[in-house]
Amino acid sequence: MPKQQNSMTILILGSGGREHTFAWKTNQSPLCKQLYVAPGNSGTSQIAENININVTDFNAIKDLVLEKKIDMVVVGPEDPLVQGIHDFFLNDDALKSVAVIGPQKAAAQLEGSKEFAKEFMYRHNIPTAAYKSFSKNDVEEGYEFLETLNPPYVLKADGLAAGKGVLILNNLDEAKAELKQMLVDAKFGEASTKVVIEEFLDGIELSCFVLTDGENYKILPTAKDYKRIGEGDTGLNTGGMGAISPVPFVDGVLMGKIEERIVKPTINGLKKDNLPYNGFVFIGLIKVNDDPFVIEYNVRMGDPETEVVLPRLKNDLVEIFKAISEERLNEIDIEINTQTAATVMLVSGGYPEVYEKGKEITGLNNVEDSLVFHAGVKLENDKVLTSGGRVMAITSFGKTHQEALKESYQNIEKLHFDKMYYRKDIGFDL
Ligand code: AMP
Ligand code: GLY
Repeated sequence: MPKQQNSMTILILGSGGREHTFAWKTNQSPLCKQLYVAPGNSGTSQIAENININVTDFNAIKDLVLEKKIDMVVVGPEDPLVQGIHDFFLNDDALKSVAVIGPQKAAAQLEGSKEFAKEFMYRHNIPTAAYKSFSKNDVEEGYEFLETLNPPYVLKADGLAAGKGVLILNNLDEAKAELKQMLVDAKFGEASTKVVIEEFLDGIELSCFVLTDGENYKILPTAKDYKRIGEGDTGLNTGGMGAISPVPFVDGVLMGKIEERIVKPTINGLKKDNLPYNGFVFIGLIKVNDDPFVIEYNVRMGDPETEVVLPRLKNDLVEIFKAISEERLNEIDIEINTQTAATVMLVSGGYPEVYEKGKEITGLNNVEDSLVFHAGVKLENDKVLTSGGRVMAITSFGKTHQEALKESYQNIEKLHFDKMYYRKDIGFDL
């Protein structure tokens, strides 16, 4: 790819399949002169330079940005955003001209605090489940509130709990016991100092992704992910076992409701509340009958949703990021491949509980017509080894999600590592 004169040195923060996908897409841009990923993984090491720095070590990131003359930082995961990496850059004279893709700390509370997110939605009339929040001193009121609800009961730790902070319980006594454990016994540590109890919404989930520069917004393709480890959506929650984009049941009417009732009031709400935001807004939705409700906000892209959304984006991603950082996202026309993308995550046997690492992965050279995004993979002495629970995502395209999945599953047949596991029923509910 010929590099343009105004091309940039870019740093991506993170180390998952999401960041490999960002790196893959960024690397295709003539606007990217040099690409670093911190800490990155084996996938990113093949297309960029990995730097072994933790995503929340802001001082080390500062040194790297100055040493390598980095022009733009793209933040993958939520932790650095919730801890204020964007503000850290803005408050430092040497860093303030560097573009950061990701919201400032105040707006990152949309993901960092469930209570903050619920208050935001109520303030801006954004449809969501009814709720109340409780702290240690009002456990008794929490019990009383639970008694007014019908099962199942939804309890959410207020803060970041690595995707584990939401409990859905069928039994009132169990719900009370869990509430006590969260508030009084600090089941999720600091994250459960407050607990949001909310009404259970019965419907089908989907996610909507929005890009914003704080003033303008663009809607990216919808996606649906599969979070449970077991087929038929059973068993423990994981980081995500597969995803499909677009979501076939989202028609123009539903998308219109999502945009009018949720996306617009969200972007306008950020402005009204003076919460500067540039980057991705990931809106977790549930469709109840024919109406969309917000389950949660995330202030980053999803993983493995990124592995199906970005491959469908025809635009130059760096051009979009540049427009975001210059507050002229309105000048960009988003172009999407009309094909469906599906991804299937290969995981280590035992995940999301105890699993072994260091298993050799074979067959990668035989993969045809699918994209392979690395997550928990490392290269050692010319061998490709597993190094995490979620190992790699296999993304394919098709006219339908069935066709795309068939391609991914055919390629997975050629791959092997000891105790490899994946869900064979991604998209089963569509
Ligand atoms: P969250 O971390 O907020 O996305 O919640 C995790 C999961 O819990 C969601 O993906 C939903 O499957 C489920 N969930 C959360 N809130 C509700 C709710 N109010 N009603 C039904 N299911 C919910
Ligand atoms: N796949 C869900 C997430 O990234 O939060």
